[in-house]
Amino acid sequence: MCGIVGYIGNKTIDKELVDGLKLLEYRGYDSAGVAVLKNDKIYTTKAEGNISCLEKILKNEENATVGIAHTRWATHGKPSINNAHPHISSDKEWAVVHNGIIENFGQLKNDLQHNNFTFSSETDTEVIAHLLQQLNCEDKINTVIKTCKMLEGSFALAIINKNIDGTIYLAKRKSPLYISLNNAETFVASDPICFAGKTQSYYSLNDDEFCEAKIGKLIFYNLNGETISKKPIEMTDFDIKIDKQNYAHFMLKEIQETPSILKRIVQTYKDNNAFDKINNQILKNINKIILVGCGTAYHAGLVGASFIEKFAKIEARCFVASEFRYNDPLIDDKTLAIFVSQSGETADTIMAHELAKQKGAITIALTNVLYSSLAKKVDFIFPICAGPEIAVASTKAYTAQISILNMFAKHLCNVRNNTNFNFIDSLSNLANTLKILDINCLEDISKELINEKTMFFIGRGLDYFTCEEASLKLKEITYINSQAYPAGELKHGFLALVENGTHVFVIATQKALLDKTLNGAHEASARGAKLVIATQFDIPKSQLKDIYKIISLQNFDEDLMPIASIGAFQMLSYLTSTKKGINPDQPRNLAKSVTVE
Ligand code: AGP
Ligand code: GLU
Repeated sequence: MCGIVGYIGNKTIDKELVDGLKLLEYRGYDSAGVAVLKNDKIYTTKAEGNISCLEKILKNEENATVGIAHTRWATHGKPSINNAHPHISSDKEWAVVHNGIIENFGQLKNDLQHNNFTFSSETDTEVIAHLLQQLNCEDKINTVIKTCKMLEGSFALAIINKNIDGTIYLAKRKSPLYISLNNAETFVASDPICFAGKTQSYYSLNDDEFCEAKIGKLIFYNLNGETISKKPIEMTDFDIKIDKQNYAHFMLKEIQETPSILKRIVQTYKDNNAFDKINNQILKNINKIILVGCGTAYHAGLVGASFIEKFAKIEARCFVASEFRYNDPLIDDKTLAIFVSQSGETADTIMAHELAKQKGAITIALTNVLYSSLAKKVDFIFPICAGPEIAVASTKAYTAQISILNMFAKHLCNVRNNTNFNFIDSLSNLANTLKILDINCLEDISKELINEKTMFFIGRGLDYFTCEEASLKLKEITYINSQAYPAGELKHGFLALVENGTHVFVIATQKALLDKTLNGAHEASARGAKLVIATQFDIPKSQLKDIYKIISLQNFDEDLMPIASIGAFQMLSYLTSTKKGINPDQPRNLAKSVTVE
């Protein structure tokens, strides 16, 4: 997590840095800070909270021409001013901002304390500032390289030295870092989105590469301190302006964008079908598919695995990335591994990919960010075409992911079983008719939820996966404890939790499972649950008396219903969140891009 920005140039430096940080706020908002160099002295400003808190106290240092900045998602040490970056060496010669985790910081800290260094924060990062001082030599990039050789874990670093004007030193291992320049300015950022409108191209640091960035000049080094040459990457895909338009929150805008994104997916996969890039022979040879992701992306993978088994009749399993890595999964060169990640920067997913690759799997990234670290590593990319997703709670990316997995499952079936599914047309029909639910129909329910402490989601088959995702959405942005259960599992434990008035949301979109799902629902209502059923079916009159409310869904092919049903619960979570006075775009303790393990 965390966003790093650096700037060398003649514009008002604090403003340049803060403008960059604002674009990276999705990466964390526990604290923010800047360090600028002026007259051989480093000046820092830090604030707890998000970037607007920093902006209020910035001094707008005149005549400073180089600076680094940071928006933090705390891993080591609570959110506080002391723990906010930049961190400064004891002799005040070095300032550093860091994204990642220094895993051996405990030992390094002991050694430094033994050598009389004193620490002013609880962070792992501060060891880097003091190590720079301890290892300091004439050649500053060499000092940085020597320091990084001492570090274990993940880092993207931007560093300034008080005696070297106009220079930012950069280092990277596992966490992303990008650099760009024009004639008069040099920019550094954790995401090239910050360079949009400023430059035509940018450079991407690879692991254990370093850069000495100056105005008009970038010198790249490897871990041996030898200079290396790097090719710039053209700025494409950055023409989309990030703004909320007239929406109150990014999340609302992103939910509402779903139908247009589905149309974009249809068009993109019609014109340039990413599936066709995988040779049919590869798809015929594989004997297993695994899907891997975290959070919402994991839920999309669960739906995808179900589609693949249903249509392509090939074994498919979905794993949580952080578990997958340590479970010695059974993978070989006949395994197709799909890594699902909106950002393409999720550390757990990237590490899971590394393992799958080592074991010989053919790998695919199902991602929104084509320049992301994950996208660079895989054999094939399936773009999800969702456009920038800014709200921390993923909405449109999830819908896009399950749509593409639905198409891919049918494509696989066509290739392996000689069927003739027109997967583009069925998604196209949905894209052209899908309507995001009228807010009014959910308003009443959301009013009731604001005082709830616990609620449940139940469903079977594909609907159970929607329940998991609906429950995650609600937890993330309303802080209400909710749990998803397979509807058949209630009697095996869950019913003990049901009290008079407990809200139980039932998702029932699969005809063959409807009666069984309703059985479970009635078991809960018999114990006092308030049943809210989301369905496209007419519920038999005899059963209506037990049902508190119905959320009527549009009727599509059943395999596409997960796309239609999740929208209602994304919206319900949003409405409940705003009624509770929570900013759904920036829920507490979370960040959009989780670049630490
Ligand atoms: C989704 O609402 C969450 N913010 C989170 O679970 C997210 O889906 C997860 O961190 C994975 O992110 P990714 O898709 O960018 O890999
Ligand atoms: N580990 C560092 C900290 O806790 C950096 C975390 C981040 O990447 O934001 O401050």
